[in-house]
Amino acid sequence: MVVSAMIGGGPPKTVLITGVSRGLGRALALELARRGHTIIGCSRSQDKIQALQDELPRSSEDPPAASSSSSSSSSSCKHLLTAIDVRSDSSIKEFAKLVVQTRRVPDIIVNNAGTINKNNKIWEVPAEDFDMVIDTNLKGVANILRHFLPLMIERKRGIIVNMSSGWGRSPAAEVAPYCASKWAIEGLSRSVAKELPPGLAVISLSPGVVNTDMLASCFGSSAALYPSPETWAPKAATMILNLTEDDNGASLTV
Ligand SMILES: NC(=O)c1ccc[n+]([C@@H]2O[C@H](COP(=O)([O-])OP(=O)(O)OC[C@H]3O[C@@H](n4cnc5c(N)ncnc54)[C@H](OP(=O)(O)O)[C@@H]3O)[C@@H](O)[C@H]2O)c1
Repeated sequence: MVVSAMIGGGPPKTVLITGVSRGLGRALALELARRGHTIIGCSRSQDKIQALQDELPRSSEDPPAASSSSSSSSSSCKHLLTAIDVRSDSSIKEFAKLVVQTRRVPDIIVNNAGTINKNNKIWEVPAEDFDMVIDTNLKGVANILRHFLPLMIERKRGIIVNMSSGWGRSPAAEVAPYCASKWAIEGLSRSVAKELPPGLAVISLSPGVVNTDMLASCFGSSAALYPSPETWAPKAATMILNLTEDDNGASLTV
């Protein structure tokens, strides 16, 4: 029983993860689904969402869904994946409605969707690139909180994990917009922690350094020296599943 709790055992949970089309979000979704948990996921790319849907086991015993499946939110599947841009408040509002209609209110939310500016000194970062980083990494998280926190508050339980970064706790040249967004995530999380009723918790989580498209953007070819998302996911999944309301307001690292 203790061992099962340490690997994140216990009853199956419903986990909402934003940014599941690739990188950390995809690997985490697959790892949690393999452990029998239900995934609600989103990202912008419809074809990658469909590919993930086809790969997800429908239950801990099931084989992956047939690749002929055409709907990304098929009712024959316990998971719910959909193409949504977290920057759109109205889309997230509709997403929350769909989640309620299909009785999949999440036990855990992982605000993982994120983007980084192309390495550049701040005066060379185009305004639209700065906006893209803030709109995705900060306002996207706020959109999810706005529409999903009331559902969790109504149920009197829920864990929110806001994906932060080492660069949300220390500065770095040429990624100032990204650092600003992740420092904001740390501040947002710690402030929201003070607003939550008992039973709920919000945590900012730095994933460490993992070889993804995002890391390749800022590290170049040396990104390949770091662990893959598939190596990272088991430890991250166990850590996330073991979070409790006692962790409210914490800044943790995988
Ligand atoms: N990799 C690392 O070493 C590292 C280190 C520190 C922090 N992080 C954080 O970990 C999280 C995941 O990073 P990653 O390395 O896995 O990045 P990644 O490989 O670039 O993947 C980013 C994911 O976010 C989705 N996404 C981006 N913009 C979106 C939007 N507007 N709406 C919905 N989904 C969107 C992408 O899907 P679409 O393009 O299909 O929308 C993709 O699935 C990020 O928050 C990142 O800041 C990563």
